[in-house]
Amino acid sequence: MTEFRVTPWDVEGDIDYKKLIEQFGTQPITDGLIERVEALAGHVHPLLRRKIFFSHRDFDWILSLYEKGEQFALYTGRGPSGHTHLGHILPWIFTKYLQDTFGCELWFQLTDDEKFVLSPHLTIDDTISFSYENALDIIALGFDPEKTHIFSDLDYAKTMYRHALQVAKRVTFSTAKAVFGFDNSTNIGLIFFTSMQSVPAFLPSIMQKRKVPVLIPSAIDQDPHFRVTRDVAEKLGYYKPALIQSMFLPSLLGPDSKMSASKSGSAIYTVDSPKVAKKKVMNAFTGGCQSLEEQRVQGGNPNICTVYQYLYILFEESDEDLARLKERCMSGEEMCGNCKKLLAAKVSEFLKDHQAKREKARDRIDDFMLSD
Ligand code: TRP
Repeated sequence: MTEFRVTPWDVEGDIDYKKLIEQFGTQPITDGLIERVEALAGHVHPLLRRKIFFSHRDFDWILSLYEKGEQFALYTGRGPSGHTHLGHILPWIFTKYLQDTFGCELWFQLTDDEKFVLSPHLTIDDTISFSYENALDIIALGFDPEKTHIFSDLDYAKTMYRHALQVAKRVTFSTAKAVFGFDNSTNIGLIFFTSMQSVPAFLPSIMQKRKVPVLIPSAIDQDPHFRVTRDVAEKLGYYKPALIQSMFLPSLLGPDSKMSASKSGSAIYTVDSPKVAKKKVMNAFTGGCQSLEEQRVQGGNPNICTVYQYLYILFEESDEDLARLKERCMSGEEMCGNCKKLLAAKVSEFLKDHQAKREKARDRIDDFMLSD
């Protein structure tokens, strides 16, 4: 049996997402839910259609309210521990689709406080500067400036702190230990931090002075925080936030390798030059055989191929083209080099476009950022 571990600060091993749903006690995204989105929105984003967003809590409730004409707000976030990579923007792309489709206001939290207390080597100034760098990527994705509020915890603390205290007062150390696995060696900054991550789930209600339903799109690793948030929400007079949760974009280096800043070939960063990104793709782990000869006879294995996964998750919208590629791979007609070139071209194109928008975002930062 392969072991895996998913916490907000650490993801390890070959993840069995079905088991994770059981472990966490969330609900699977069903065909029925996808049909309801289709009926409301007309267009279902591939990340949902392909069940990369595979898990939820109360997403059905959000849809029921919307069907009755009640608007919901969105909340998501980023821990600014370094530059943004493609795995980070996966949930943001989906968040943008939700904003465009349902016309939602979006609260985007940058947890520079969290990454400072968590990381042994980052200074406060480092995490503040990554907040700014990451905000450029968020803006570059095209969120609506009229409806999007981006804030760093350090910059928006005056507004947030009193609400964080309301949460903190209602969460015991034993709950924090059970939910996050803290022990006596955990620094107290990290123990308090989860209350800061709860606050944006309540900010729409606080600002509008009425109960506003909130949906949080995120990767599944953030679920423990929001279990705490959901636990205290009603005690504070708010709705429990609903969650819709994604899988992770795998490491380019293969199934057992973490996508991390310390292994430079494992992830593609938004600030990588197209040339560097191309090199990473060309070195990626595939499901191919040792020799071309062998592959022509046996075929490749797309199920373990990171190149195929990147196409499936982010870079190939057409189901037909994907199915054809899979066929050709398995029958030995397609060689890994070609697939890598196809992905590299798509990634370069994305990066060129994104980087131009990222530069323009420098002048637009004030249209999005809150501070107090
Ligand atoms: N803790 C998250 C991280 O480390 C950042 C975050 C804050 C977040 N609020 C969120 C992520 C809401 C998703 C949804 O990346």
